[in-house]
Amino acid sequence: MGIKHYDCGPQNIHSAKRIFKLDTQNTSYIMAVVDNDNFLGHVYYGSKLKDYDVAYLLRTNEAPFVPSQNERDRSSFMDSFPAEYPGHGVGDCRDGCIGVLSQGGHRGVNLSVVSHKIYDGKPELTGLPATFGRQRECTTLEIECADAALGMEVTLLYTVFENVDAVTRSVHIKNASRQDIYLTKVLSACLDMDNKDFDRMTLHGSWARERHIQRQKIGYGKYAVSSLRGEPGHQEHPFMALMTEETTQDVGEVYAVHFVYSGNFIVQEEVNQFDSVRLTVGINPDDFCWKLAPEECFQAPEAVLTYSENGIGGMTRTFHDLYRNHLIRGEYRDKKRPVLINNWEATYFDFNTDKLIAIAKQATGLGIEMLVMDDGWFGNRDSDNRALGDWQVNEEKIKGGLNFLVEEVNKLGMKFGIWFEPEMISPDSDLYRSHPDWAIAIPGRKASLARNQLVLDLTRKEVRDYVYECVAKILRSANIEYVKWDMNRPLSDIGSVSLPADRQGEIYHRYVLALYELQDRLVKEFPYLLLENCSGGGARFDPGMLYYSPQIWCSDDTDAVERLAIQEGTALIYPLSTMGAHVSDCPNHTVGRTTPFETRGYVALTGTFGYELDVTKIAQEERNMIPEQISMYHKYNDLIRCGDYYRIASYGENHLYDCYEVVSKDKKEALVTYIQVLNCPNYHSRRIYLKGLDPHMKYRIEGEKEAYYGDTLMKAGFQTEKLWGDFKGRLYHLKAIL
Ligand code: DGJ
Repeated sequence: MGIKHYDCGPQNIHSAKRIFKLDTQNTSYIMAVVDNDNFLGHVYYGSKLKDYDVAYLLRTNEAPFVPSQNERDRSSFMDSFPAEYPGHGVGDCRDGCIGVLSQGGHRGVNLSVVSHKIYDGKPELTGLPATFGRQRECTTLEIECADAALGMEVTLLYTVFENVDAVTRSVHIKNASRQDIYLTKVLSACLDMDNKDFDRMTLHGSWARERHIQRQKIGYGKYAVSSLRGEPGHQEHPFMALMTEETTQDVGEVYAVHFVYSGNFIVQEEVNQFDSVRLTVGINPDDFCWKLAPEECFQAPEAVLTYSENGIGGMTRTFHDLYRNHLIRGEYRDKKRPVLINNWEATYFDFNTDKLIAIAKQATGLGIEMLVMDDGWFGNRDSDNRALGDWQVNEEKIKGGLNFLVEEVNKLGMKFGIWFEPEMISPDSDLYRSHPDWAIAIPGRKASLARNQLVLDLTRKEVRDYVYECVAKILRSANIEYVKWDMNRPLSDIGSVSLPADRQGEIYHRYVLALYELQDRLVKEFPYLLLENCSGGGARFDPGMLYYSPQIWCSDDTDAVERLAIQEGTALIYPLSTMGAHVSDCPNHTVGRTTPFETRGYVALTGTFGYELDVTKIAQEERNMIPEQISMYHKYNDLIRCGDYYRIASYGENHLYDCYEVVSKDKKEALVTYIQVLNCPNYHSRRIYLKGLDPHMKYRIEGEKEAYYGDTLMKAGFQTEKLWGDFKGRLYHLKAIL
C-alpha cells in the first residue's frame, strides 16, 4: 500500500504521537501530529524506512521544545518547528505557505490537524491540470486542518505514486466563517529538513536560451526562482532540486520539487539559524490576493516532490515516468508523432498557397508527413505588428481558401497543421477597434506593448467564448490535425474592467484558469488533434501545459549547439517525447552558426523531430539526407519516446562534447548520441561509460562485429570514433544479442 497510517489511539490523530507514513517503492515520507495544538510536523523524507514511528526526531517530549512543556517559549517552538504547511505571524518568522488578511485587518494564520482520510486513487483538482492515477496506482491522504480563529478549513492533499517514487501535494481552502477572508498567499508544498550542506540546482535562461542548468551551494538566507510574467517565462523555471555535495548523475541524494502550473510561481529555499532548510513552492504571492467569501473555496495547483538516492539521473527518470504515465493524455501520448515541416523559418510572413504547396510537394517525396502553416495566414497579418484577434483566413494569401489548401496537402499524402496565438490582441486589429476593453490594462494607464501586442482579458467569459469559437470554427472548417498554440508576450499592466477592486489581485490566477479551460474545451471537442504548446519558444514549457499537449516547442533557437544545453536542461525533468525539436537551415537564424546537416538531425532526433526550413531551397546534398534522417526517426523514436534517459557527458561542463543515452525498459536496446562540439588536437582518449545496461547481457553496436557485456560497456566503457572537425556527431545503436 502506498500510504500507511498507524493509529496510536482510539481517537486517530488527536494525541501526541500520530504518524503518517507515505511509502513508495524506494522512499518514505513521514509526518507527525504533535503537541496539544495538533500541529503537523515534517519528520522525514528520504530512502525507505522500515520503522514508522520516528517522531522522536521532532523531540516532542522534551522541554523546551514543545509548548506543552514550555508555554513561555511558544514562539521559539514555532520558529524552529519543521512545519508541514507553515502559517504566518504567530512566531514562525521564516517564510510560510499561507497568508491571509482578515476582516479585522490581521495577518496571523496557523493550522492544526482536525481529521484525515485515506483512499485509493486520486481526485481531480477542479479547473487545474494535475497528475492522475487509477486505483492501485496511487493512494491519497487528505489531512483536514483548521484555523479556528479565522474559521478557515485547509485540506492538505498527498498522493503517493508507489511505483514512481513521487509524492504530489496540493491544498484546498474553504472559508467556513461568516466573513470574507483575503488569501494573500497560498503555496502548494513545503519541505522542512536539516541542511545536509546542500547544493541547489535550478534552470535559468532567456529567449532562445531557455532552461540552462545552474548548480550552486546554498547558504544562510533565502534564494528564490520566480515569475511575475503570467507564465513561467524564459527566465526561470518552477523547479528546484537540493542535493548533497557529492551528488552526480549516478550517485547521491536529491530532493526535487516541480510545480504543475503555467503562471506566476515561486520556488524558494531558506536556510535559517538552526541550519535547517525550508523548501517551498507555489503561486507567487506577489500581486496575488484572492477574496474568499463565506463558503467559497480555493484550490491550489499541484506540486510534485521526488527523492532520489541514485543521483540526478534517478530524479530525471522519476519525472519522465511520472509525466509520461500520469500527466500527459490524449491520442498522441504513446504514439509516434508525424514528422512535420513548419514554414516559420522557411518563409516567415512571406507565403501563400503556392509556396506552401511547393514546400509540401518536395517534403512529401522525402518522407515528411505533415505541413504546418505558421503565423501570418489570417487578417492582414503581414508582420508581427498587427491583426492578432482577426482569425479570418486571408484569402489573398491563401488563395482558394483554407479548405482548398488542406485538401491539396492531404492529396499529397500529408497531414495539415496550423498556428494560432489565441490569447492576444493587436491594437491594429478589427477586434481591438470594436472591443478595446477586451485587452488587459489598468484604467487610466497606457498598457505596455510587447511585440506590438496586448493580452486578451481571458478572465471574462465573453472573451473566452469569442477566442474559443474563432479557433474551433477554423478547425471545424477543414481537416486540420495539428495546432501550434503560441503566446508571444508576458502579461503586464494587470487590470480587468469586469472585476471589482477587491478582486483585481485574482487576475493572474484567473487568467491561467481561463487558459486551462480553453485548452480543455479544445482537446475535448477535437480529441484526435495533436496540440503543441509554445510561447515565444519555450516560455511556457511547464507540466501544466503537458496535461493538454503532449509536446511543447522547446525554444526558438534551433541551432544544434545551442540546443544541446537547452535540451539538456529540459530533459533534466521532461520526457524526450515532449521536446519540440526541428532541423533548420544554416547559417542559423538566431546565432549565425553553420553546423553539418547531419548533426542538426542527430540533435533534433532527441525530441519530437521535424523540419523548419524551405526544403525547396536548401542544397541538394542536404535534401538528400532527409530520407535517411526520417528513417532514423522511425527506427529510433519508440526507444527515444519510451526509454530511460541517461546523461553521460555535458558540453556545458566539459566545453568539448555532449553525450547521452536512451535505454529501452527491457534493456535490450540502447541509443547513444555523441556530439563533438569542438575538436581537440591530440587527445588521447574519448572513452564514454555507458549506463543503465543489463550487466549480464551482451550487446553489439550496430555496424561492428564484436559484442560486449553490458558490464564491460558500463565499467570499462568504449572509445568513440575520432571525428574530424567541429560540430560533428555520431549515433551508436546497441542491441542485446543474448
Ligand atoms: C514564436 C514561435 O516560437 C515561433 O516558432 C513562431 O511560431 C513565431 N512565434 C510566430 O510568430
